[in-house]
Amino acid sequence: MCGIIGYIGSKNVVSVLLDGLKKLEYRGYDSAGIAVVNGNRIQVRRVKGKISSLEKSLQEKPIRGSYGVGHTRWATHGRPSEDNAHPHRDCTGTLVVVHNGIIENYLSLKEKLNKEGHRFRTETDTEVIAHLIEKYYNSSLEKAVQKAIKRLEGAFAIAVLSTKESGKIVAAKVGPPAVVGLGKKEFFISSDINPLLSHTQKVVFLEDKEIVVIKGDGAKFFDFEGKSLEKKADHISWSPLMVEKRGFKHFMLKEIFEQPQVVRDTLNGRMSLDSGKVLLDEIGISPQILKNIKKVIIIACGTSYHAGLVGKYLIESLVQIPVDVEFASEYRYRDFILDKEDLVIVISQSGETADSLAALRAVKKKKPSSLAICNVVNSSISREAEGVLYTHAGPEIGVAATKTFSAQMAALALFSLYLAQIKRRINRKESLSYLQDLQRVPHKMEKILNQTDFLQKLSLQFSSFSHFLYLGRWINFPIALEGALKLKEISYIHAEGYPGGEMKHGPIALIDEKMPTLAIVPKDRVYEKMLSNLSEIKTRIGYILAVAFENDKEIHKKVDIVIPIPSVNPLFTPFLTTLPLQLFAYYIASIRGADVDQPRNLAKSVTVE
Ligand code: AGP
Repeated sequence: MCGIIGYIGSKNVVSVLLDGLKKLEYRGYDSAGIAVVNGNRIQVRRVKGKISSLEKSLQEKPIRGSYGVGHTRWATHGRPSEDNAHPHRDCTGTLVVVHNGIIENYLSLKEKLNKEGHRFRTETDTEVIAHLIEKYYNSSLEKAVQKAIKRLEGAFAIAVLSTKESGKIVAAKVGPPAVVGLGKKEFFISSDINPLLSHTQKVVFLEDKEIVVIKGDGAKFFDFEGKSLEKKADHISWSPLMVEKRGFKHFMLKEIFEQPQVVRDTLNGRMSLDSGKVLLDEIGISPQILKNIKKVIIIACGTSYHAGLVGKYLIESLVQIPVDVEFASEYRYRDFILDKEDLVIVISQSGETADSLAALRAVKKKKPSSLAICNVVNSSISREAEGVLYTHAGPEIGVAATKTFSAQMAALALFSLYLAQIKRRINRKESLSYLQDLQRVPHKMEKILNQTDFLQKLSLQFSSFSHFLYLGRWINFPIALEGALKLKEISYIHAEGYPGGEMKHGPIALIDEKMPTLAIVPKDRVYEKMLSNLSEIKTRIGYILAVAFENDKEIHKKVDIVIPIPSVNPLFTPFLTTLPLQLFAYYIASIRGADVDQPRNLAKSVTVE
C-alpha cells in the first residue's frame, strides 16, 4: 500500500529520499512528503498527488537536513490531501512518523489522547501514533515507540524521528513489509528493496514485532520487549538497472516485452531435456510428502488468482488430483476444511498481499503442506510458507501485473510436471515431450511481440468503446478473466471475463453493437464448442475479435477480426493467448491517455485488508 523510507548517511538526504520515493511510488500515489532534520529543527514538506509534485515543490523552495524520512500514500483513512499527507507530527512538532498500514483502534485512542490534551490536525489513523509516542517519551525514542506500538491494533510499518535524539531513526513492524539497507556508513529503512538497489544490496528483512534503531554508525535490532536481536543480512541479486524503464514509454510495456526472457529465467536450471526430469528439490518440500498429496488448494488475489486457475487446469490434467482455487480475502474467513495430505499453494508476486498472507497463516494452523509461489525474494509469504518456488521475473514496477503472471504460469507448469513425475502420472517420454514444448514457448512469445503494429491499429479502432466481453474455455477461461482485468485496471473500461459456455446463461443479453467480444479460440479440446458459442454471438449481430492459431483457416469465417498466435501444446496456450490481451489493454489505455503504470485507485502491493 503506502511506501515508507528513511535515510541516515552522508549523501544529500533530500535527493536520496526523493529518489527512494520514486522507486516506491507504485505502492500508492495519493500524496507524498518528507521530513528532514536540520540541526534541532525538523523541516517537513508534503503535497497532495505524485512525487513529481513534491519534487517541484522542493525545487521551488528547497529544504536541507542531515537525515530524514519520507512517505508516498495510498489513502485509507482521510481523503488524499496535503493535510492528511505523511509525515505526521506530535503536538510539539519535534517528532514525526511515517506509516504503512491501518490502525484499527485509532478512533478510541484518538478520543483518549484528545481528553489528555493532545491536539489532532488530520483525519488519519497514523497521527495517533505520533501523539502516543509523544505521550510515552522520556529520553528514549525506541522505548517510547515500544510502549506506543503496544497500544496499536492493526497493521503497521513505521519510521520515527525526533529532534530530542538527533541522528536516530526508529522503525518497527507488524504486518506490512520493512527492510533495512546496510550501506557503507549509510543506513536505510524502506517498505521494499527497490529504493535500496542503487545504494546497497546488503539488507535485513524485519519480521513482525521487531524494532530497528538506525544511526550514522549502524543498525541495532530489538523485539517489542526491548530484547536485543542478532539479525542475518541477505544479499539481493537484483540490480538497480532492473528498476529503470530502459527506453520504454512505460514500465508495463517494458515488462510485457520482458516476458519471453522471464519465462526462460523461471524455467532455467529446473528442467533437464536429457533425462526429461523436472528439478525442483529447491522448493523445500520433500518428494515423499508430495507423493502423498491427495488435493491441492490454491489461494491468491487478482492476477495471481488467475494464474492459480491456470495452475488448476495444469495440475488436474497432468497429475489427476483435485484442485480448488480460492480468493484469499474470502478463504481466510471461511470455515475451511483441510487435510494433512492437502497441499496449499499461495501465489503472490509481491509476497506481501495482506489477504494472502493472512490466509496462509490461517491454513498453517491446520498443518497441511504449504508452498509459496512468489517473485520477491524473502518476502513475508515466501518466509512463512513451508516451501517456496520463486519466479524469476525481476522487480515488476507497473501496477498491472504482466511478466509476473507469465512467470507464475511457468512455475505452475514446472510444478505440475514435477508432481506428475513424483506420482508417476507421466512417464519419461511424456515428460520429455512436455518439457520440449515448454522450452519452445519463449520463442513463440517473441514472435507475437515482434508483431505489435497490428495490435496498435486494432486498439485505436476499439479505444472508444465502453464495454467488452472476454470469452475463453477450459485452460483459457482464466485468460479471459485476466484479459478483462487488464483492460479494467489500466483503461477504466468496463470488461467482463466469462467461460464461453456460460454466456448463453445470461451475459449474451449484453451483446449488441456497443459490446464487442474478445474471444480466445486456440485449437484445443473445446475449439468446436467455442466456435458454436461464437456463432450464437454472430446471430445477435455481435462483433468478435478472436485470438486464434495463425494456421487456423476455419476461424476467419466465424469472426470479424483474427489476432494470430503461433500454435503450441494446448496446455501451454495461455502463455501465448495472454500477450495480445495485455498489449490490447496497454495500447487502449495509452491511447486514452490513462496513467498506465499508476492507474487510479490502485497500488502494486495490497498490504492492508
Ligand atoms: C494485477 O494487475 C493487480 N496488480 C492485482 O490484482 C494483483 O495481482 C493482486 O493485488 C495480487 O498481488 P500479489 O500477486 O502481489 O499478491
